Amino acid sequence: MFVFVLIFMVTVLYYINFRRLRKPLYEFSERMPTIGEVPVLGHTHWFIGGPERLLENIRKLAELVDSSGGLSKIWIGPSLYVVSLNPEDVQKILENCLEKDSSYKFLQTWLGNGLFVAPVELWKVHRRVLLPIFHNRVIEDYIEVFGQQGDVLVQRLAEQVGKPEFDVYKYITSCMLDIVFETAMGEKMDVQHNPDTPYLRARNCVMSIINMRLFKAWLQPDALFNLTPYAKMQKENIDLTHKFTDEVVNKKRALFESGGLQKEGRKDLLELLLTRDMKFTNEELREHIDSITIAGNDTTALVVSYALLLLGSHEEEQDRVYEELKGIFGDSERLPTKEDLNKMDYLERVIKETMRLYTVVPIIGRKTQKELQLSNVTLPAGVGCAVAPFVMHRSKRLWGPDADCFNPDRFLPEHSAKRHPCAFIPFSFGARNCIGRHFGMLAMKSILATVLRTYKVTSRTIDRLKIEILLFPVPGHMISIHKRNTAC
Ligand code: HEM
Repeated sequence: MFVFVLIFMVTVLYYINFRRLRKPLYEFSERMPTIGEVPVLGHTHWFIGGPERLLENIRKLAELVDSSGGLSKIWIGPSLYVVSLNPEDVQKILENCLEKDSSYKFLQTWLGNGLFVAPVELWKVHRRVLLPIFHNRVIEDYIEVFGQQGDVLVQRLAEQVGKPEFDVYKYITSCMLDIVFETAMGEKMDVQHNPDTPYLRARNCVMSIINMRLFKAWLQPDALFNLTPYAKMQKENIDLTHKFTDEVVNKKRALFESGGLQKEGRKDLLELLLTRDMKFTNEELREHIDSITIAGNDTTALVVSYALLLLGSHEEEQDRVYEELKGIFGDSERLPTKEDLNKMDYLERVIKETMRLYTVVPIIGRKTQKELQLSNVTLPAGVGCAVAPFVMHRSKRLWGPDADCFNPDRFLPEHSAKRHPCAFIPFSFGARNCIGRHFGMLAMKSILATVLRTYKVTSRTIDRLKIEILLFPVPGHMISIHKRNTAC
């Protein structure tokens, strides 16, 4: 009994001292409006009802912020996050706060110091080295792979023609995996025909465990997580994925050192990394390649799947895309070239409008490293900043009363020019934005063009969404397809 009383008293004293030290932070927080905050827990209870309820609460908070045009806050356990929907403030946050917030630490066990999660000082050096390998000229060499894998996708989809609705995401994500493995490390995995390998199972398992930790507050402290069977499962599966990439890296390194790498022709990203002046260790190479394949796959596959869902329920817009493709390809069945992709203006607008309505990276978390002056307030150092492109992209203040409607022509150059550069940020903004955005845009155009030249898509509208790190529709990406009489 005495021990329990002692533990209780120590905990209370610790808590009182903890609050005393953080008094300035609490005083700062009191000035900001919010909803749903409860004593001690803050907003942590939002995570208990699951990913769908979390999104609903974020939307309600967004309405409050949008109507006041200012800032709001969320407390997740002891961490304070400032939420802003004001593009000027978002620009200041994304340009000045380059450190990721602590929620990214769950990914760090897997991706180490790859670009996505690296601490800012290391990130600065590595990003400079990686930027040239994502240059437009390099990425354009991969257009052939986008077309070839899109063609395999069209053949795989043939099994669904005329059948009831099916989840298209699993087809698209296999296609994207084949693209990223071939372009990032030169591996032809043929996931489209072999979707169930030990490596892919391990990858999915790690993703699910990381996602679960984000939503189960009691699994977040390492001390508690390590007591559960998930810790062992996570370690075993991370080891398996690391072993796979390590073998590819070792093989490539040996070829590079023996002068056996092809001199001519297309180079994959790993080969390009090996030939940079900065000598990366094999571990660093693995961390970069794993980060690129993970950051590049599901994001791109999700946008393509959402675009198909939207076009499936907007016949007029789908017809416009098809007419554009007919104008480009005529009767030819060739794979899309760089010139073809450059001509797909309307399809590009469809993709942008899809990314606005279904922003697949719905929340970006950063941390202030020093004081930051926003329009109405000075943020202290060490505060989390939650930028929420998903809610910003649906803001009626920024996008008008029809913000929830699908209208690709919002992205006509004359309309885009009038908007603040941070009103539309599916790839984030500033120096730590998405390094693969050009890759992603070309791959999405190529895949969508190849599918839509062959099939007409129908679908129902999307009504329920959830956040599982990325943004997913609750019922899946359900569409049905019919073969067009004349493919273009
Ligand atoms: C539609 C497709 C894509 C979307 C919407 C997207 C979105 C984003 C966003 C929002 C970020 C910033 C995340 C944050 O700060 O938390 C990011 C970072 C990143 N993305 Fe993408 N991405 C896409 C495709 C790709 C592709 C195809 C690749 C690689 C081939 C890629 C590689 C990366 C990497 C490495 C980072 C980390 C960059 C850094 O911190 O310097 N992404 N992406």
